[in-house]
Amino acid sequence: MRTDVNGITIAYNDRGTGLPIVFFHAFPLNRNMWAAQEEVLSARFRIISIDLRGHGESDAPLWHYTLEQSADDVHALLNQLAIRQALFVGLSMGGYILFAFYRKYATSVKGLILADTRAQADTTEGKNGRFQMAQTAYKKGPSSIADIMIPKLLSPATIRTKPEIVRNVRAMIEGNQVSGIAGDLMAMAERPDSVAFLPQITCPAQVIVGELDQATPPSDARLMAELIPNAQLATIPDAAHLANLEQPDTFNQIVAAFALDLQQ
Ligand code: MLT
Repeated sequence: MRTDVNGITIAYNDRGTGLPIVFFHAFPLNRNMWAAQEEVLSARFRIISIDLRGHGESDAPLWHYTLEQSADDVHALLNQLAIRQALFVGLSMGGYILFAFYRKYATSVKGLILADTRAQADTTEGKNGRFQMAQTAYKKGPSSIADIMIPKLLSPATIRTKPEIVRNVRAMIEGNQVSGIAGDLMAMAERPDSVAFLPQITCPAQVIVGELDQATPPSDARLMAELIPNAQLATIPDAAHLANLEQPDTFNQIVAAFALDLQQ
């Protein structure tokens, strides 16, 4: 489905009925990364997955990007869908956007699932890396970004033994426009540190991390689970950064259990 918000067209899926669960994807992917969640969880819940500004089938304007703008896009979309409160799931960049969303729209958040993400801002070295990646995207195109990102997103075992997952991730990355890739690299580089904000998150929260995640390792997940007052932590074995793609059944069980608790 498609709709216009804040001057651009946003693509999204809306499937099922019940408690709305809104999914924010990772960088530099799109809403297809949630296909296995949508398939299973839409039997019990209303699943909304969104191509965030700059990704997938949504517009990728050549302009300044911020994570707050992505949060505003989602809020405008939810207003159009008449959804006043939801459970939000954000993986990695999706988690960074959830922090921005919660800062502005806490009353819309019934619960939070922060998966394979972190509250810390980028280090100087991290920011420099994003600048270099934006230059690479501009000079060599999205497939060069897939070459760099795939070993950071998936475990060595997945890369070796599950070519269909690797193909799917590569297709999502290559489907992006350079304007969106560079825009979100800038937005992530500029994001504020959220560690001091964690104690102000008062809704129920579930933190999830793949035990092999090197991009946002289990120590980052533990920090969030310790500092968010009402949070619990789940570690998924045999998964790296894209834990929902590598271990969809375990990921779905954690989301479903948390959502059912929230409904009561
Ligand atoms: C992501 O998966 O969204 C990215 O790895 C996040 C990041 O680069 O910090």
